[in-house]
Parts: sequence; C-alpha cells; structure tokens
Amino acid sequence: MSAAATPFRRLLLPAGALLGAAFVGIQFIRPPLENPPVTGDFQAPVAVKNIVQRACYDCHSNQTDLRWFDKVAPVYWQVAGHVKEGRTGLNFSTWQSLPPADQKAKLWESVNQILAGAMPLSEYTLAHPEAKVSAQDVAVLKQYVASLAKSPPADTAKLNAADRQYRHWQSNKTASTAVPVAPNGIAYLPDYKNWQAISTTERFDNGTMRVVFGNNVAMQAIREKRIKPWPSGTAFAKVAWDQLADAQGNVRPGAFKQVEYMLKDDRKYAATKGWGWARFKTDKLVPYGKDALFTTECIRCHQPQQHNDFVFTQPLRP
Ligand code: HEC
Ligand code: HEC
Repeated sequence: MSAAATPFRRLLLPAGALLGAAFVGIQFIRPPLENPPVTGDFQAPVAVKNIVQRACYDCHSNQTDLRWFDKVAPVYWQVAGHVKEGRTGLNFSTWQSLPPADQKAKLWESVNQILAGAMPLSEYTLAHPEAKVSAQDVAVLKQYVASLAKSPPADTAKLNAADRQYRHWQSNKTASTAVPVAPNGIAYLPDYKNWQAISTTERFDNGTMRVVFGNNVAMQAIREKRIKPWPSGTAFAKVAWDQLADAQGNVRPGAFKQVEYMLKDDRKYAATKGWGWARFKTDKLVPYGKDALFTTECIRCHQPQQHNDFVFTQPLRP
C-alpha cells in the first residue's frame, strides 16, 4: 500500500456514505406520474397492436407500466420526463380523438422514427430489451401503414363487388359440381355469406384482405355473452381475398383466395379442441390438407387463444 493511497481512502469512506445518503434522499423527490383514463385506445390488427403495445405504450399511452428499476431516482426522473414528453406528441390512449388523416400521419411518422433508430428510445431498450423492434416487426408495421396510406380500408361496396363475382361463380358451378369436402369430412358451407361480419377491421397483412363472419348461433352467443366457451352450433368463416391495387393505387379486394371454417361441436369434434376445422382454397374451393391431420396446424397456431376457446376475433359486444 503506498503512502499516497491512505489519505485518499480516508476520504473515500465519508464520500461514499454521503452519496448513499443523497441517493436515499433523492428517492423522495418524485414528480407525479399518473395513468389518466384510456378514452379511445389505438385499434389495429392484432399483430400491429402487439408490437406497438410492447414497444411504445410505456411512453405513448396512459397505460405506462414501470418496472421497479424505472422507479429508482435518478432514473425515475428521466423516465417520468420521457413519459410526459412522449404522451404529449403521441398518445395511443386518446387515439380515437384524432381524425383519420392524423392517425395515418402519426403512424407514418412512427415507422419513420423506428427506421431512423430514434424510437423506441435507446436508453429505454437497454433496460427493456423486450421493447426492441425487430426487422420483422418493422415489416409488419410498414405494410399496415402502407395499406392505410394507399386507401381507406375497402368499403362495403368493394367487398360486395368481390362477393358478387364470387356468387356468380357459385350459381354457375356449384349446381353441377359435388360440394367439396375437407379430409376430416367437413363439407364446404356456401351459407357463410349470409352470416354477419364480426371482425372490426379489414386486415391488410400478407397482401390479403380478411373478414371473419359468424353464424346466428355465434351472434346470439355474443349478445348473451356466452363466448367462453362458445356454444355448440357456433360457426365462423374467415374469408381472404388477394389485395389488389387499382390504377389509382387504391387497394381493393381481388381474387377470392380461401375460406376457412371453425364449427363448434364439443362431442363431434372433441379430438380437435371442440372445433371442426376446414379450409377451401381458391375459387375452385380445393380442400386443404393431405389427411385429417391438417387440423394440427390450425390448432397449433390458434393455441395462444386457448383461453378464448381458440378464437382470435374478439367481437365488439353490443
Ligand atoms: C422511453 C420512452 C419512449 C418510448 C418507449 C418510445 N418513445 Fe417515442 N417519444 C418519446 C419522447 C420523450 C418523445 C419526444 C421527444 C423526442 O422526439 O425525442 C417521443 C416522440 C415520438 C414521436 C414524435 C411525436 C410527435 O409528433 O411529437 C413519435 C412518432 C414516436 N415517439 C414514436 C414512437 C414509437 C412508434 C415507439 C415504439 C416503437 C416509441 N415512440 C417509443 C419517448 C418514447
Ligand atoms: C399462422 C397461424 C394460423 C394458422 C396456421 C391458422 N390460423 Fe386461423 N387464424 C389465425 C389468426 C391470426 C386469426 C385471426 C384473424 C386474422 O388475423 O386474420 C385466425 C382466425 C381464424 C378464423 C376466424 C375465427 C377466429 O379465430 O378469429 C377461422 C375460422 C380460422 N382462423 C380457421 C383456421 C383453420 C381452419 C386453419 C387450418 C386449416 C387455421 N385457421 C390455421 C391464425 C392462423
């Protein structure tokens, strides 16, 4: 030990104690950070919403969820400041109060902020690695924003046009052709078009537009709030069209791509989670799957929704 080090060490101890006391002291200096009510939450396809919630909501919503390490001053001061500032420029909890054009502009700006590496703030992702936005996340967001920018979600008239096309095909052909049957024995149900659309937004990911329909039993269950589990007799159809851009660059439904069914019958379909699964592809309604085991693929992907009886689409309750 050198002679010079000793006085230094003598200083170090009280300095450390002082710092420690100061550290405890500053914990009492806490600018308030509250979560005001959510008045009009951001609505988007599940994939988009999940990314934004995970990566942006702590600073850009009224659902800030601080971890313990965020609550320790002086980090807390910085975090509280970020949240206040973040909410001012962009707040997903008051999203519905923005006119549609502003919503698009904010989303567009968001994607650009992410691409520029400015958002989410890097100080934040250091401590919250789960908030990092991957290249794949960016692709999902970009595609969503691009679809909004090109045109409003296809309106009923356009959907009907695609439907008319398809109905025409149906009346010409199904009369003479046998009804196609999936490898697990479920037959194509032409009736789905008379069911009610229950998905709230058209979905624009993967270059397709999708609409989910529910039959009368489904609609009644929604009204009566008996959807966990859905009653036997419930039927869903998810229909996908190719997404087409017209001459003006407007996105519109193009060729019919496929229809998928989930038919509830606890006894009959006990082996497949109580649902009968079927998919018919293209306007030729080609049954999907080599054998009855194709349903494992459906179930695997729907598994995260097991607490919602394997159904993704959460109906808006009347
Ligand atoms: C740790 C807090 C934090 C997180 C997480 C965060 N931001 Fe921000 N954001 C801010 C702050 C602070 C500002 C304002 C100052 C600035 O631009 O640096 C801001 C500004 C913005 C703006 C400009 C708003 C305007 O018009 O004034 C956009 C857009 C934005 N953020 C998008 C996002 C998106 C998208 C995410 C998620 C991928 C995100 N931010 C995540 C803190 C955050
Ligand atoms: C890659 C994952 C994935 C696979 C595989 C999958 N689905 Fe889905 N399915 C979804 C998602 C996500 C939704 C929610 C609507 C949307 O985002 O398009 C959905 C919705 C549905 C719906 C509307 C009811 C609901 O849950 O919202 C039906 C019907 C459906 N799928 C049938 C099937 C059938 C039949 C198969 C197998 C042939 C299948 N799905 C395979 C992901 C998948």
